[in-house]
Amino acid sequence: MAGGTRRAFIGTTAAGVAGSLLARYAPALRAQGGDSRLEILVNEPIGTIAPEIYGHFVEHLGGVVYDGIWVGEHSKVPNVGGVRKALVDELRRINPPVIRWPGGCFADSYDWRDGIGAPDRRPTRTDFWADTKPSFDRPATPGPQRFDPNRFGTNEFIRFCRLVKAAPYIAANVRSLPARDLYQWIEYCNAPAGATTMSDLRAAGGDREPFGVRYWGVGNEPWGCGGNFTPEEYATEFRRYTAWVPKYGVPLKFIAAGPNGGDREWTTRFFRMLTSRGQGALNDVFGWALHYYAGSTGDRNSIQFSTDDWYDMLVRADRMESLVTQHWSAMAESDPTHKVRLLVDEWGAWHAGSADMPANYLWAYPGSLRDALVAALTLDTFNRHADKIAMANVAQLVNTIHSLFLAQEDKFTVTPNFHVFAMYAAHQGAQSVRTVFSAPPIALSRASGAQALWGLAGSASIRDKALTVTVVNPHASESRECAIAVRGAAIREGRASVLTSTDLRAHNSFEHPNALAPADAPVSVRSGGVQHRFPAASVTRMQLVLM
Ligand code: AHR
Repeated sequence: MAGGTRRAFIGTTAAGVAGSLLARYAPALRAQGGDSRLEILVNEPIGTIAPEIYGHFVEHLGGVVYDGIWVGEHSKVPNVGGVRKALVDELRRINPPVIRWPGGCFADSYDWRDGIGAPDRRPTRTDFWADTKPSFDRPATPGPQRFDPNRFGTNEFIRFCRLVKAAPYIAANVRSLPARDLYQWIEYCNAPAGATTMSDLRAAGGDREPFGVRYWGVGNEPWGCGGNFTPEEYATEFRRYTAWVPKYGVPLKFIAAGPNGGDREWTTRFFRMLTSRGQGALNDVFGWALHYYAGSTGDRNSIQFSTDDWYDMLVRADRMESLVTQHWSAMAESDPTHKVRLLVDEWGAWHAGSADMPANYLWAYPGSLRDALVAALTLDTFNRHADKIAMANVAQLVNTIHSLFLAQEDKFTVTPNFHVFAMYAAHQGAQSVRTVFSAPPIALSRASGAQALWGLAGSASIRDKALTVTVVNPHASESRECAIAVRGAAIREGRASVLTSTDLRAHNSFEHPNALAPADAPVSVRSGGVQHRFPAASVTRMQLVLM
C-alpha cells in the first residue's frame, strides 16, 4: 500500500547545477507557501523536441487495421476512401508526425507484394498473431483480424498517412524475406512513375506520385519474433540489408531494431559488431530503436485495479528514464560522437484484453486515468531527453495496448491517452528546457521493489515567448500546492488544462465517450511567478506567456 508522504523535498532533475540554484531560490519559493516547487530554467536548453517523439504505431494485429482503421469504401461506417473518418478527424487534432507500419512482429512475416495491385486479387494470409504465441486468449472467429485479406497494403497505408499529414515509417521483413525485397519495396515507394517496373506497379495502383518514404526499419525485435538472432548476427544482417540501397533522391533513414527493455548487452554487442569493420557503418544508421512496455500486475485488468496497482504501473513506466540514459551510454562505447539517435518505437502500458471487445481484437481495452498518467510521464521523459531521442511510437494507435482510440463497427471513442497527446502536442518542435521539481516523494511499500516515487515530475519547452509546461502528480489522493518560477524570465499570463478524476479507474467507453476529458483551469500569476495546485492523480498542461 502506498503510504503517507515523507515531508522531505527531493528534486527530480538530472541537472547537477539545478541543486545549487534550488538552494539559492528556495527561501523565496517557500515564502510563497505550498509543499512543492518547480523551477524552469529557460536559459538551459536541452534540445529541440523532435515532433516525431509524438509518433504512432499500426500493426496488423487484432482490431488495429481491420475495423480500427480500415472499414472499406462501401462500409456504412463513415469513411474516407475506406479509412474510418472519425479516426482521421481526431488524429488531425493532434498533429501525428509519423506512423510506423506494418508491425511489430507481423512485419517479419509480411510479404509487401501481397498488399499491392488490384484489391480483389490480393491473397488472404494467416495473420502472424493467429495461432502463434501469444495467441488468442478467447475463442476467435474467422475474420480479417485472423486471416488478413491484404486489403490494407502499401498504397492504402500511404494514403492514410497523407490524410492525417504524418510521415510513413515502414518496417521491413528481415526474418523471412531477402534484402532484395527491401530494395524493391523502396523502389516501389520512391522511384518516379515511368522509371521502373516497380514504380509503374505503384502508379497502376492509383499513385503516380512517389511516396518519398524516408524512414525504413530493418526488421523488428530480431532478438525474438524477428528471427532469434544474436546481436552480432543481426548487426551483420543490418549491414547487408542497408548496403548500397538505391535512394531515388530520398534521404533514407534506416532504423536498427534495438533492445528489449533493459537489455544493455544487446546494445553494446550490436554496436561493437556493427563498427568492427570501421566507424563508417554508423553512417547507415539513423536510429537505434528500443522497445519497452510497462506490463500491469495483478489480474492485469485495465480498469479494475487497486491503489497499489496504480503505483506499480507508474513506477514501471517511470523506468523509461533510466532505459534512455543506460542505452544512450552503451551506444557511446562504439559511437562516441552519437551519430546514431535513440528511438523508442514501441512503448505503452500493456494489460489484458477487455471482455467487452471481440476476442479477435487482441489486447483491446479502454485504458483509464492510470494509462493517461503513463502516457504523460513517458512523453515528459522523452521531452527531457530531446537531445537523444529522434522518434517514439506509442503502441498502438487504435484497439490494442496503449491505444488512443477504441473502435468497433460504428462505435468509436477516444481514450484518455488521446487527451494526453492532444495536451502535449504543443511541445512538438519546441526547445526543451531544464526543469527542477521538488515535491514530497510518495513512499511505497510494494511497487516492484521501488521504495518511493517522485512527488511531481514533468517537462517544459519554449517557442519564442510561449512556454509549455506539463506536470504529472502521481499521488492517488493528495494534491500538491506548487510555487512555479521561471529563471531568466517572468511570467505575464497563463492558462491550464487538467486531466483528472476522483476515480482512478475513470475511462471512456462507447456509451460514455466523454467520461474523462481535460478541463480548463485558471493560472494565477503573481510577481512574475505562479502559485498552482496540482490535483491528485492528474496531468496538467500550462501554457505560459513570458514577458
Ligand atoms: O505491439 C505488440 C507487439 O509487441 C509487437 O508486435 C512486438 O514488436 C512487441 O513485442
